[in-house]
Amino acid sequence: MSRFYATTPIYYVNAEPHLGHAYTTIVGDALSRWHRLLGDEVLYLTGTDEHGLKIQQAADAAGLAPKDFADQIAPKFADAWQRLDIANDDFIRTTEERHRAAVRELLQRCYDAGDIELDTYRGKYCVACEEYFTEDELLEGSLCPVHKRPVDDFEEENYFFRLSRFEDRLLEHYRTHPNAIVPEFRANEALGLIRSGLRDFSVSRTSLSWGIPLPWDPAHVAYVWFDALTNYLAAVGFGDGTDRYQDWWPVNYHLIGKDIIRHHCVYWPAMLMSAGVELPRGWAVGGWLLVDGEKMAKSSGNVVTPLDLVDIVGVDGFRYYVLADTAYGNDGDFSYDGLVGRYNADLANNLGNLAARVATVVAKKCGGVGPAPSADSALAEIATAVVADTTRRWDEVAPHRALEATWSLIHAANSYLETHEPWKMEPGAAVDAVMGDALEALRLVTILASPALPGTAQVLWERLGMTGAVTDQRIGPDTEWGGYLGGVNVTKGDPLFPRIT
Ligand code: MSP
Repeated sequence: MSRFYATTPIYYVNAEPHLGHAYTTIVGDALSRWHRLLGDEVLYLTGTDEHGLKIQQAADAAGLAPKDFADQIAPKFADAWQRLDIANDDFIRTTEERHRAAVRELLQRCYDAGDIELDTYRGKYCVACEEYFTEDELLEGSLCPVHKRPVDDFEEENYFFRLSRFEDRLLEHYRTHPNAIVPEFRANEALGLIRSGLRDFSVSRTSLSWGIPLPWDPAHVAYVWFDALTNYLAAVGFGDGTDRYQDWWPVNYHLIGKDIIRHHCVYWPAMLMSAGVELPRGWAVGGWLLVDGEKMAKSSGNVVTPLDLVDIVGVDGFRYYVLADTAYGNDGDFSYDGLVGRYNADLANNLGNLAARVATVVAKKCGGVGPAPSADSALAEIATAVVADTTRRWDEVAPHRALEATWSLIHAANSYLETHEPWKMEPGAAVDAVMGDALEALRLVTILASPALPGTAQVLWERLGMTGAVTDQRIGPDTEWGGYLGGVNVTKGDPLFPRIT
Protein backbone atom coordinates (compact mmCIF):
# COMPACT_ATOMS: atom_id res chain seq x y z
CA MET A 1 0.00 0.00 0.00
CA SER A 2 1.38 3.41 -0.77
CA ARG A 3 1.47 6.28 1.66
CA PHE A 4 0.30 9.80 1.09
CA TYR A 5 1.36 12.62 3.38
CA ALA A 6 -0.08 16.11 2.91
CA THR A 7 0.16 19.25 5.01
CA THR A 8 -1.45 22.66 5.33
CA PRO A 9 0.45 25.72 6.46
CA ILE A 10 0.25 26.01 10.22
CA TYR A 11 -1.85 29.03 11.03
CA TYR A 12 -0.80 31.92 13.20
CA VAL A 13 -2.80 32.06 16.39
CA ASN A 14 -3.06 35.84 16.34
CA ALA A 15 -6.23 35.56 14.24
CA GLU A 16 -9.27 33.34 14.44
CA PRO A 17 -9.93 30.90 11.58
CA HIS A 18 -11.25 32.67 8.49
CA LEU A 19 -12.23 31.74 4.96
CA GLY A 20 -8.63 32.06 3.73
CA HIS A 21 -7.43 29.46 6.23
CA ALA A 22 -10.44 27.26 5.54
CA TYR A 23 -9.72 27.35 1.83
CA THR A 24 -6.29 25.71 1.97
CA THR A 25 -7.46 23.30 4.66
CA ILE A 26 -10.47 22.13 2.63
CA VAL A 27 -8.39 21.61 -0.51
CA GLY A 28 -5.91 19.50 1.46
CA ASP A 29 -8.73 17.57 3.08
CA ALA A 30 -10.42 16.76 -0.21
CA LEU A 31 -7.11 15.73 -1.75
CA SER A 32 -6.37 13.50 1.23
CA ARG A 33 -9.83 11.98 1.06
CA TRP A 34 -9.28 11.28 -2.61
CA HIS A 35 -6.10 9.43 -1.74
CA ARG A 36 -7.93 7.37 0.86
CA LEU A 37 -10.34 6.38 -1.93
CA LEU A 38 -7.32 5.33 -3.97
CA GLY A 39 -6.44 3.00 -1.11
CA ASP A 40 -3.44 4.97 0.11
CA GLU A 41 -2.55 5.12 3.77
CA VAL A 42 -2.95 8.84 4.43
CA LEU A 43 -1.51 11.31 6.89
CA TYR A 44 -3.11 14.72 6.68
CA LEU A 45 -1.54 17.30 8.95
CA THR A 46 -2.55 20.77 10.02
CA GLY A 47 -1.81 22.84 13.08
CA THR A 48 -0.93 26.20 14.56
CA ASP A 49 2.11 28.48 14.49
CA GLU A 50 2.50 29.91 17.97
CA HIS A 51 5.93 31.49 18.38
CA GLY A 52 7.44 34.78 17.23
CA LEU A 53 7.05 38.48 17.66
CA LYS A 54 3.62 38.70 16.07
CA ILE A 55 2.11 36.27 18.57
CA GLN A 56 4.01 37.82 21.45
CA GLN A 57 2.53 41.22 20.56
CA ALA A 58 -0.99 39.83 20.19
CA ALA A 59 -0.67 38.15 23.58
CA ASP A 60 0.63 41.37 25.14
CA ALA A 61 -2.34 43.24 23.72
CA ALA A 62 -4.69 40.65 25.23
CA GLY A 63 -2.88 40.91 28.56
CA LEU A 64 -1.96 37.23 28.51
CA ALA A 65 1.22 35.19 28.55
CA PRO A 66 1.89 33.98 24.98
CA LYS A 67 1.29 30.33 25.80
CA ASP A 68 -2.00 31.10 27.56
CA PHE A 69 -3.01 33.21 24.60
CA ALA A 70 -2.15 30.41 22.16
CA ASP A 71 -4.04 27.93 24.33
CA GLN A 72 -7.16 30.00 23.79
CA ILE A 73 -6.90 30.29 20.03
CA ALA A 74 -5.47 26.93 18.91
CA PRO A 75 -8.64 25.00 19.86
CA LYS A 76 -10.69 27.40 17.74
CA PHE A 77 -8.82 26.14 14.69
CA ALA A 78 -9.27 22.53 15.72
CA ASP A 79 -13.01 23.15 16.30
CA ALA A 80 -13.47 24.95 13.01
CA TRP A 81 -11.86 22.06 11.15
CA GLN A 82 -14.10 19.60 12.89
CA ARG A 83 -17.17 21.60 11.94
CA LEU A 84 -15.99 21.71 8.32
CA ASP A 85 -15.61 17.92 8.30
CA ILE A 86 -11.84 18.11 7.92
CA ALA A 87 -10.41 14.64 8.53
CA ASN A 88 -6.94 15.67 9.65
CA ASP A 89 -4.99 12.82 11.22
CA ASP A 90 -2.91 15.07 13.40
CA PHE A 91 -2.88 18.65 14.65
CA ILE A 92 0.50 20.03 15.58
CA ARG A 93 1.17 23.05 17.77
CA THR A 94 4.63 24.56 17.68
CA THR A 95 4.62 24.84 21.46
CA GLU A 96 4.61 21.04 21.81
CA GLU A 97 7.68 19.20 23.00
CA ARG A 98 7.87 17.02 19.87
CA HIS A 99 8.10 20.18 17.82
CA ARG A 100 10.77 21.74 20.00
CA ALA A 101 12.87 18.58 19.68
CA ALA A 102 12.58 18.60 15.89
CA VAL A 103 13.51 22.28 15.58
CA ARG A 104 16.57 21.81 17.76
CA GLU A 105 17.65 18.78 15.75
CA LEU A 106 17.27 20.57 12.41
CA LEU A 107 19.06 23.70 13.64
CA GLN A 108 21.92 21.63 15.03
CA ARG A 109 22.30 19.71 11.79
CA CYS A 110 22.47 22.91 9.70
CA TYR A 111 24.88 24.43 12.22
CA ASP A 112 27.10 21.36 12.16
CA ALA A 113 27.08 21.48 8.37
CA GLY A 114 28.53 25.00 8.61
CA ASP A 115 25.49 26.66 7.02
CA ILE A 116 24.49 28.72 10.07
CA GLU A 117 26.87 31.52 11.09
CA LEU A 118 26.81 34.57 13.34
CA ASP A 119 26.53 38.01 11.75
CA THR A 120 25.07 41.44 12.41
CA TYR A 121 21.82 42.41 10.81
CA ARG A 122 20.73 45.94 10.07
CA GLY A 123 17.53 46.47 8.19
CA LYS A 124 13.80 46.83 7.98
CA TYR A 125 11.44 44.31 9.50
CA CYS A 126 7.72 43.76 9.03
CA VAL A 127 6.27 42.12 12.11
CA ALA A 128 3.09 41.03 10.32
CA CYS A 129 5.20 39.11 7.76
CA GLU A 130 7.87 38.17 10.30
CA GLU A 131 10.23 39.01 7.47
CA TYR A 132 13.09 41.40 6.67
CA PHE A 133 12.92 43.61 3.59
CA THR A 134 15.53 45.53 1.67
CA GLU A 135 14.93 49.22 0.92
CA ASP A 136 14.10 48.53 -2.72
CA GLU A 137 11.45 45.97 -1.80
CA LEU A 138 9.52 48.51 0.27
CA LEU A 139 6.71 50.65 -1.05
CA GLU A 140 6.97 54.43 -1.01
CA GLY A 141 7.12 55.77 2.51
CA SER A 142 8.99 52.65 3.73
CA LEU A 143 5.82 50.54 3.83
CA CYS A 144 5.73 46.75 3.80
CA PRO A 145 4.73 45.61 0.27
CA VAL A 146 2.35 42.98 1.67
CA HIS A 147 0.72 44.76 4.60
CA LYS A 148 1.23 48.35 3.45
CA ARG A 149 2.23 49.24 6.98
CA PRO A 150 5.40 50.90 8.27
CA VAL A 151 8.30 48.53 8.87
CA ASP A 152 10.59 48.68 11.90
CA ASP A 153 14.30 49.44 11.95
CA PHE A 154 16.21 46.53 13.31
CA GLU A 155 19.80 46.00 14.26
CA GLU A 156 20.69 42.76 15.89
CA GLU A 157 23.34 40.13 16.10
CA ASN A 158 21.75 37.14 14.42
CA TYR A 159 22.68 33.75 13.23
CA PHE A 160 22.28 33.53 9.48
CA PHE A 161 21.43 30.61 7.30
CA ARG A 162 23.70 30.75 4.25
CA LEU A 163 20.92 30.47 1.69
CA SER A 164 23.13 32.07 -0.96
CA ARG A 165 25.14 28.84 -1.13
CA PHE A 166 22.13 26.85 -2.30
CA GLU A 167 21.15 28.66 -5.48
CA ASP A 168 22.63 26.13 -7.91
CA ARG A 169 21.47 23.12 -5.94
CA LEU A 170 17.92 24.44 -5.74
CA LEU A 171 17.79 25.21 -9.45
CA GLU A 172 19.17 21.77 -10.19
CA HIS A 173 16.56 20.14 -7.99
CA TYR A 174 13.69 21.90 -9.70
CA ARG A 175 15.22 21.23 -13.11
CA THR A 176 15.29 17.50 -12.40
CA HIS A 177 11.85 17.55 -10.72
CA PRO A 178 9.88 19.73 -13.13
CA ASN A 179 6.48 18.73 -11.73
CA ALA A 180 7.31 19.19 -8.07
CA ILE A 181 5.46 22.50 -7.79
CA VAL A 182 1.90 22.69 -9.13
CA PRO A 183 0.35 24.49 -10.89
CA GLU A 184 3.18 25.18 -13.32
CA PHE A 185 2.94 28.95 -13.28
CA ARG A 186 3.54 28.90 -9.54
CA ALA A 187 6.68 26.82 -10.16
CA ASN A 188 7.89 29.62 -12.40
CA GLU A 189 7.36 32.05 -9.57
CA ALA A 190 9.55 29.95 -7.28
CA LEU A 191 12.23 29.67 -9.94
CA GLY A 192 12.09 33.43 -10.46
CA LEU A 193 12.74 33.98 -6.75
CA ILE A 194 15.78 31.72 -6.88
CA ARG A 195 17.15 33.18 -10.10
CA SER A 196 16.84 36.72 -8.84
CA GLY A 197 19.51 35.90 -6.27
CA LEU A 198 19.34 34.45 -2.79
CA ARG A 199 20.14 36.40 0.33
CA ASP A 200 21.19 34.69 3.53
CA PHE A 201 18.38 34.88 6.06
CA SER A 202 18.57 35.32 9.75
CA VAL A 203 17.46 32.31 11.79
CA SER A 204 17.65 33.71 15.29
CA ARG A 205 16.61 36.61 17.48
CA THR A 206 17.99 37.92 20.76
CA SER A 207 15.40 40.68 21.12
CA LEU A 208 12.66 38.14 21.69
CA SER A 209 12.19 35.34 24.17
CA TRP A 210 9.01 33.75 22.80
CA GLY A 211 10.56 30.96 20.79
CA ILE A 212 12.79 27.93 20.86
CA PRO A 213 16.35 28.59 22.12
CA LEU A 214 19.19 27.60 19.79
CA PRO A 215 20.79 24.44 21.10
CA TRP A 216 24.34 25.88 20.95
CA ASP A 217 23.53 29.46 22.01
CA PRO A 218 20.41 29.75 24.16
CA ALA A 219 20.63 33.56 24.27
CA HIS A 220 19.03 33.36 20.81
CA VAL A 221 15.65 31.95 19.94
CA ALA A 222 14.92 30.43 16.53
CA TYR A 223 13.39 32.69 13.89
CA VAL A 224 9.72 31.87 13.58
CA TRP A 225 9.88 30.64 9.97
CA PHE A 226 12.71 28.22 10.69
CA ASP A 227 10.67 27.07 13.66
CA ALA A 228 7.36 26.86 11.78
CA LEU A 229 8.55 24.99 8.71
CA THR A 230 9.98 22.24 10.86
CA ASN A 231 6.48 21.25 12.01
CA TYR A 232 6.19 19.11 8.89
CA LEU A 233 9.05 16.93 10.10
CA ALA A 234 8.17 17.16 13.78
CA ALA A 235 4.76 15.59 13.21
CA VAL A 236 6.31 12.44 11.78
CA GLY A 237 8.83 12.03 14.58
CA PHE A 238 11.94 13.82 13.35
CA GLY A 239 14.19 14.65 16.28
CA ASP A 240 13.05 11.78 18.50
CA GLY A 241 16.38 10.02 18.10
CA THR A 242 15.09 7.47 15.57
CA ASP A 243 14.59 7.33 11.83
CA ARG A 244 10.90 6.72 12.19
CA TYR A 245 10.13 9.99 10.39
CA GLN A 246 11.21 8.28 7.18
CA ASP A 247 8.06 6.15 7.32
CA TRP A 248 6.22 9.25 6.10
CA TRP A 249 8.92 11.54 4.84
CA PRO A 250 9.31 12.88 2.15
CA VAL A 251 5.94 14.56 2.26
CA ASN A 252 3.86 14.23 -0.92
CA TYR A 253 2.38 17.72 -0.92
CA HIS A 254 2.77 20.86 1.07
CA LEU A 255 -0.40 22.82 0.36
CA ILE A 256 0.44 26.49 0.68
CA GLY A 257 -0.78 29.91 -0.36
CA LYS A 258 1.14 31.91 -2.93
CA ASP A 259 2.26 34.31 -0.20
CA ILE A 260 4.54 31.72 1.33
CA ILE A 261 6.26 30.32 -1.77
CA ARG A 262 9.60 31.84 -0.79
CA HIS A 263 9.58 30.16 2.60
CA HIS A 264 8.38 26.79 1.38
CA CYS A 265 9.98 26.45 -2.05
CA VAL A 266 13.26 28.26 -1.38
CA TYR A 267 14.15 28.40 2.32
CA TRP A 268 12.75 25.02 3.29
CA PRO A 269 14.41 22.82 0.65
CA ALA A 270 17.71 24.59 1.29
CA MET A 271 17.39 23.94 5.03
CA LEU A 272 16.66 20.29 4.32
CA MET A 273 19.60 19.96 1.93
CA SER A 274 21.88 21.43 4.55
CA ALA A 275 20.56 19.02 7.18
CA GLY A 276 20.80 16.00 4.88
CA VAL A 277 17.06 15.38 4.83
CA GLU A 278 15.22 14.42 1.65
CA LEU A 279 13.27 17.18 -0.09
CA PRO A 280 9.47 17.25 -0.29
CA ARG A 281 8.02 15.44 -3.28
CA GLY A 282 5.59 18.21 -4.05
CA TRP A 283 4.21 21.62 -3.32
CA ALA A 284 0.68 22.62 -4.32
CA VAL A 285 0.37 26.38 -4.38
CA GLY A 286 -3.01 28.06 -4.15
CA GLY A 287 -3.97 31.65 -4.82
CA TRP A 288 -5.83 33.89 -2.44
CA LEU A 289 -9.51 34.15 -1.91
CA LEU A 290 -10.17 37.81 -2.36
CA VAL A 291 -12.99 39.86 -0.95
CA ASP A 292 -13.55 42.97 -3.02
CA GLY A 293 -10.17 42.38 -4.67
CA GLU A 294 -8.22 42.33 -1.38
CA LYS A 295 -6.66 39.34 0.35
CA MET A 296 -8.76 38.41 3.28
CA ALA A 297 -6.73 39.07 6.37
CA LYS A 298 -7.22 40.28 9.87
CA SER A 299 -5.10 43.32 9.11
CA SER A 300 -7.38 44.28 6.18
CA GLY A 301 -10.55 44.05 8.27
CA ASN A 302 -12.38 42.04 5.59
CA VAL A 303 -12.52 38.70 7.31
CA VAL A 304 -15.29 36.28 6.36
CA THR A 305 -15.87 33.63 9.00
CA PRO A 306 -16.39 30.20 7.44
CA LEU A 307 -18.81 29.02 10.05
CA ASP A 308 -21.25 31.80 9.19
CA LEU A 309 -21.29 30.60 5.58
CA VAL A 310 -21.95 27.06 6.71
CA ASP A 311 -25.17 28.31 8.26
CA ILE A 312 -26.29 29.40 4.79
CA VAL A 313 -25.24 26.56 2.47
CA GLY A 314 -24.32 23.77 4.87
CA VAL A 315 -20.88 22.25 5.38
CA ASP A 316 -20.81 20.47 2.05
CA GLY A 317 -22.24 23.45 0.18
CA PHE A 318 -19.40 25.53 1.53
CA ARG A 319 -16.74 22.89 0.83
CA TYR A 320 -18.02 22.44 -2.70
CA TYR A 321 -17.99 26.16 -3.35
CA VAL A 322 -14.38 26.70 -2.36
CA LEU A 323 -13.23 23.61 -4.25
CA ALA A 324 -15.20 24.15 -7.44
CA ASP A 325 -15.38 27.89 -7.80
CA THR A 326 -11.68 28.75 -7.93
CA ALA A 327 -9.07 27.14 -10.15
CA TYR A 328 -6.54 26.02 -7.56
CA GLY A 329 -3.47 28.18 -8.01
CA ASN A 330 -5.39 31.25 -9.15
CA ASP A 331 -6.90 33.91 -6.99
CA GLY A 332 -10.61 33.54 -6.39
CA ASP A 333 -13.17 36.18 -5.66
CA PHE A 334 -15.45 35.40 -2.79
CA SER A 335 -18.97 36.75 -2.97
CA TYR A 336 -22.24 35.85 -1.35
CA ASP A 337 -23.98 35.76 -4.75
CA GLY A 338 -21.29 33.47 -6.11
CA LEU A 339 -21.68 31.13 -3.17
CA VAL A 340 -25.46 30.90 -3.43
CA GLY A 341 -25.41 30.82 -7.25
CA ARG A 342 -23.10 27.85 -7.37
CA TYR A 343 -24.98 26.07 -4.61
CA ASN A 344 -28.27 26.42 -6.45
CA ALA A 345 -26.87 25.49 -9.85
CA ASP A 346 -24.55 22.58 -9.10
CA LEU A 347 -25.92 21.16 -5.87
CA ALA A 348 -29.63 21.98 -5.62
CA ASN A 349 -30.38 21.74 -9.36
CA ASN A 350 -27.94 19.21 -10.76
CA LEU A 351 -26.99 16.74 -8.06
CA GLY A 352 -29.97 17.30 -5.77
CA ASN A 353 -32.42 17.11 -8.63
CA LEU A 354 -30.94 13.96 -10.08
CA ALA A 355 -31.07 12.21 -6.72
CA ALA A 356 -34.66 13.31 -6.05
CA ARG A 357 -35.93 12.50 -9.49
CA VAL A 358 -34.35 9.05 -9.56
CA ALA A 359 -35.82 8.19 -6.15
CA THR A 360 -39.26 9.48 -7.19
CA VAL A 361 -39.40 7.44 -10.40
CA VAL A 362 -38.06 4.32 -8.66
CA ALA A 363 -40.79 4.73 -6.04
CA LYS A 364 -43.52 5.18 -8.64
CA LYS A 365 -42.43 2.81 -11.37
CA CYS A 366 -40.21 0.21 -9.70
CA GLY A 367 -41.97 -0.30 -6.39
CA GLY A 368 -39.19 1.53 -4.54
CA VAL A 369 -36.66 -1.17 -5.39
CA GLY A 370 -33.64 -0.10 -7.40
CA PRO A 371 -33.11 -2.17 -10.58
CA ALA A 372 -29.66 -3.26 -11.77
CA PRO A 373 -27.96 -1.31 -14.58
CA SER A 374 -27.46 -2.73 -18.05
CA ALA A 375 -23.95 -3.64 -19.11
CA ASP A 376 -24.22 -1.92 -22.48
CA SER A 377 -25.80 1.31 -21.25
CA ALA A 378 -25.03 4.47 -23.16
CA LEU A 379 -23.93 5.90 -19.82
CA ALA A 380 -21.33 3.19 -19.24
CA GLU A 381 -18.75 4.60 -21.61
CA ILE A 382 -19.24 8.12 -20.31
CA ALA A 383 -18.89 6.92 -16.73
CA THR A 384 -15.63 5.13 -17.46
CA ALA A 385 -14.21 8.26 -19.04
CA VAL A 386 -15.41 10.38 -16.10
CA VAL A 387 -13.71 8.13 -13.56
CA ALA A 388 -10.45 8.38 -15.50
CA ASP A 389 -10.73 12.13 -15.96
CA THR A 390 -11.62 12.76 -12.32
CA THR A 391 -8.63 10.66 -11.26
CA ARG A 392 -6.28 12.53 -13.53
CA ARG A 393 -7.49 15.90 -12.27
CA TRP A 394 -7.06 15.00 -8.59
CA ASP A 395 -3.64 13.74 -9.46
CA GLU A 396 -2.84 17.21 -10.84
CA VAL A 397 -4.21 18.76 -7.63
CA ALA A 398 -6.89 20.49 -9.67
CA PRO A 399 -10.03 19.98 -7.54
CA HIS A 400 -12.10 22.37 -9.65
CA ARG A 401 -11.35 20.27 -12.75
CA ALA A 402 -11.91 17.01 -10.87
CA LEU A 403 -15.36 18.18 -9.76
CA GLU A 404 -16.14 19.47 -13.22
CA ALA A 405 -15.33 16.00 -14.56
CA THR A 406 -17.49 14.34 -11.92
CA TRP A 407 -20.34 16.76 -12.56
CA SER A 408 -20.28 15.91 -16.26
CA LEU A 409 -21.60 12.47 -15.26
CA ILE A 410 -24.45 14.17 -13.38
CA HIS A 411 -25.27 16.17 -16.52
CA ALA A 412 -25.08 13.03 -18.64
CA ALA A 413 -27.41 11.15 -16.28
CA ASN A 414 -29.89 14.02 -16.20
CA SER A 415 -30.01 14.23 -19.99
CA TYR A 416 -30.27 10.45 -20.22
CA LEU A 417 -33.43 10.68 -18.11
CA GLU A 418 -34.75 13.56 -20.16
CA THR A 419 -34.20 11.61 -23.36
CA HIS A 420 -35.90 8.47 -22.09
CA GLU A 421 -38.56 10.10 -19.94
CA PRO A 422 -39.02 7.07 -17.66
CA TRP A 423 -41.71 8.98 -15.74
CA LYS A 424 -43.92 8.60 -18.80
CA MET A 425 -43.32 4.85 -19.16
CA GLU A 426 -45.37 2.00 -17.80
CA PRO A 427 -43.69 -0.09 -15.10
CA GLY A 428 -41.69 -2.91 -16.65
CA ALA A 429 -38.36 -3.91 -18.15
CA ALA A 430 -37.87 -0.69 -20.14
CA VAL A 431 -38.26 1.59 -17.15
CA ASP A 432 -36.14 -0.71 -15.02
CA ALA A 433 -33.31 -0.53 -17.51
CA VAL A 434 -33.29 3.26 -17.56
CA MET A 435 -33.51 3.58 -13.78
CA GLY A 436 -30.82 0.96 -13.17
CA ASP A 437 -28.47 2.99 -15.36
CA ALA A 438 -29.36 6.23 -13.58
CA LEU A 439 -28.82 4.61 -10.18
CA GLU A 440 -25.46 3.28 -11.26
CA ALA A 441 -24.41 6.73 -12.47
CA LEU A 442 -25.49 8.16 -9.11
CA ARG A 443 -23.57 5.48 -7.24
CA LEU A 444 -20.42 6.45 -9.12
CA VAL A 445 -21.03 10.16 -8.64
CA THR A 446 -21.46 9.56 -4.92
CA ILE A 447 -18.07 7.90 -4.66
CA LEU A 448 -16.31 10.44 -6.86
CA ALA A 449 -17.85 13.45 -5.11
CA SER A 450 -17.28 12.14 -1.60
CA PRO A 451 -13.93 13.94 -1.05
CA ALA A 452 -15.74 17.24 -1.58
CA LEU A 453 -19.09 16.33 0.02
CA PRO A 454 -18.30 13.69 2.63
CA GLY A 455 -21.46 14.08 4.71
CA THR A 456 -23.92 14.28 1.84
CA ALA A 457 -22.21 11.47 -0.04
CA GLN A 458 -22.84 9.10 2.85
CA VAL A 459 -26.51 10.11 3.08
CA LEU A 460 -26.98 9.62 -0.63
CA TRP A 461 -25.12 6.32 -0.52
CA GLU A 462 -27.61 4.99 1.99
CA ARG A 463 -30.58 6.36 0.06
CA LEU A 464 -29.42 4.42 -2.96
CA GLY A 465 -29.69 1.30 -0.80
CA MET A 466 -25.96 0.81 -0.49
CA THR A 467 -24.53 -0.42 2.79
CA GLY A 468 -21.32 0.46 4.61
CA ALA A 469 -19.34 3.65 4.25
CA VAL A 470 -18.85 5.37 0.92
CA THR A 471 -15.34 6.16 2.14
CA ASP A 472 -14.57 2.43 2.11
CA GLN A 473 -15.06 2.32 -1.63
CA ARG A 474 -11.98 2.12 -3.82
CA ILE A 475 -11.33 3.85 -7.10
CA GLY A 476 -10.80 1.01 -9.56
CA PRO A 477 -12.55 -2.07 -8.21
CA ASP A 478 -15.61 -0.12 -6.99
CA THR A 479 -15.83 2.35 -9.85
CA GLU A 480 -16.29 -0.07 -12.71
CA TRP A 481 -19.62 0.24 -14.45
CA GLY A 482 -22.13 -2.26 -13.06
CA GLY A 483 -21.33 -2.12 -9.36
CA TYR A 484 -24.91 -1.27 -8.42
CA LEU A 485 -26.39 -4.69 -7.98
CA GLY A 486 -30.02 -3.65 -7.68
CA GLY A 487 -32.73 -5.29 -5.69
CA VAL A 488 -32.29 -2.85 -2.82
CA ASN A 489 -34.62 -0.24 -1.38
CA VAL A 490 -34.20 3.28 -2.65
CA THR A 491 -35.40 6.10 -0.43
CA LYS A 492 -36.10 9.68 -1.33
CA GLY A 493 -35.77 11.60 1.92
CA ASP A 494 -35.62 15.37 2.29
CA PRO A 495 -33.96 17.42 -0.42
CA LEU A 496 -30.18 16.99 -0.15
CA PHE A 497 -29.62 20.63 -1.00
CA PRO A 498 -32.74 22.72 -0.53
CA ARG A 499 -32.80 25.58 -3.00
CA ILE A 500 -31.87 28.95 -1.54
CA THR A 501 -34.05 31.79 -2.75
N1 MSP B 1 2.20 30.73 10.02
C1 MSP B 1 2.49 31.00 8.66
C2 MSP B 1 2.66 29.71 7.86
C3 MSP B 1 3.71 28.81 8.39
S1 MSP B 1 3.75 27.32 7.52
C4 MSP B 1 5.14 26.56 8.02
C5 MSP B 1 1.34 31.81 8.05
N2 MSP B 1 0.18 31.74 8.70
S2 MSP B 1 -1.16 32.51 8.28
O1 MSP B 1 -2.14 32.09 9.24
O2 MSP B 1 -0.93 33.89 8.15
O3 MSP B 1 -1.57 32.04 6.87
C6 MSP B 1 -1.31 30.76 6.43
C7 MSP B 1 -1.84 30.53 5.05
O4 MSP B 1 -3.25 30.64 5.01
C8 MSP B 1 -1.41 31.49 3.96
O5 MSP B 1 -0.14 31.33 3.53
C9 MSP B 1 -2.35 31.04 2.91
O6 MSP B 1 -1.94 29.81 2.43
C10 MSP B 1 -3.62 30.87 3.70
N3 MSP B 1 -4.39 32.08 3.61
C11 MSP B 1 -4.51 33.09 4.49
N4 MSP B 1 -5.33 34.03 3.96
C12 MSP B 1 -5.73 33.65 2.75
C13 MSP B 1 -6.66 34.10 1.81
N5 MSP B 1 -7.31 35.23 1.95
N6 MSP B 1 -6.91 33.31 0.75
C14 MSP B 1 -6.33 32.07 0.61
N7 MSP B 1 -5.47 31.63 1.45
C15 MSP B 1 -5.01 32.46 2.44
O7 MSP B 1 1.53 32.40 7.03
